[in-house]
Amino acid sequence: MEIFERLAEDGHEQLAFWSEPDVGYRGIIAIHDTSLGPALGGIRFWNYRSEGEAVTDVLRLAEGMSYKAAIAGLNLGGGKSVIIGDNRTRHRELIFRSHGRLVESLGGRYIAAEDVGTTVNDMEFVRMETEWVTGLRDRSGDPSPVTAYGTYHGMRACARIRYGDPSLAGKHVAVQGVGNVGSHLCTLLAEEGARLTITDLDEERAERVAREFGAERVGPQEIYGIRADIFAPCALGSVLNDRTLAVLDVDIVAGAANNQLATPRHGDELQRRGILYAPDYVINAGGMINVYGELHDWSAARARRKAAEIFTALLQVFELAEEEGVAPAVAAGRVARERVRQVRHLQRSWV
Ligand SMILES: NC(=O)c1ccc[n+]([C@@H]2O[C@H](COP(=O)([O-])OP(=O)(O)OC[C@H]3O[C@@H](n4cnc5c(N)ncnc54)[C@H](O)[C@@H]3O)[C@@H](O)[C@H]2O)c1
Repeated sequence: MEIFERLAEDGHEQLAFWSEPDVGYRGIIAIHDTSLGPALGGIRFWNYRSEGEAVTDVLRLAEGMSYKAAIAGLNLGGGKSVIIGDNRTRHRELIFRSHGRLVESLGGRYIAAEDVGTTVNDMEFVRMETEWVTGLRDRSGDPSPVTAYGTYHGMRACARIRYGDPSLAGKHVAVQGVGNVGSHLCTLLAEEGARLTITDLDEERAERVAREFGAERVGPQEIYGIRADIFAPCALGSVLNDRTLAVLDVDIVAGAANNQLATPRHGDELQRRGILYAPDYVINAGGMINVYGELHDWSAARARRKAAEIFTALLQVFELAEEEGVAPAVAAGRVARERVRQVRHLQRSWV
């Protein structure tokens, strides 16, 4: 693997490795771009099949975080870290304290948070070694209500573009995954009078949510093919692929899941089919906004107000997409890179 070529390809600044074989710890931190501020991103604890796969994942995720921050108007860079191993291990203290030392060694260039395979308790171990960690107990707490709130406003922006009116009253929304974010999203949609169809792999959870909101419940495979106004992916990534696009029968795709497009080509394909796609890292920035609020001692109300601005951020992306004749996912990348470029310019003057 040619590491420096890989870093140069998408403009990554730094890749840091740390090893503590005695405690079974292997960790990597990727910093994509710190033009806007310190790099922020979660710690993913995953049993990667190879070191190459872990490096590819951490680089891709760090880049996504740069764009998410840039579009949301936050002064944060993009970073991410991965720990290679079985995330069900009970020996967590030394693994996360080792990772904390790697974070600390970067002197604040990277700020850690939770991600797949990690919990608030793990962050407490990281905190023993470094102050550069967020998402701690008794601070901003669970980000998913703010993520759902931002997603809801993003969905309203999509409705405004597609139907000329942001109201979701009477709109039929198919929600895939009613976990932390999906269930909060259902609350907001139900309050506005949307009609809901939901699915979840966890049958008990699906049943509970369906009952609470009077939603129709369908199986995990059925959700892609039902006729609805909006499809809201709130489960895992890569759900917009050749197989699902062939059956998708909606006007809008707008949901909180990360990495919804299996490949960039699927963003163009949605566009060709006349389906309006809200780029995931634009619409789901509420979680990052919540963490930013924690770093800057914002009130919960201020974080929510900022998340509501996702409405305007998305309209800007759709406008540019229209002007330049590209898919929204392409336009989102352009808007994000342009803000980074402009801020870099600003920083050229010595003050
Ligand atoms: N939590 C946040 O604040 C936040 C912020 C930004 C992005 N996201 C993204 O939003 C998504 C949901 O996050 P969450 O915190 O609600 O996670 P969660 O684990 O609480 O909920 C996910 C739900 O999806 C279900 N699910 C998984 N695969 C499914 C499938 N194929 N079909 C149907 N249901 C399925 C799970 O059973 C679970 O109930 C993830 O992609 C996450 O990366 C979350």
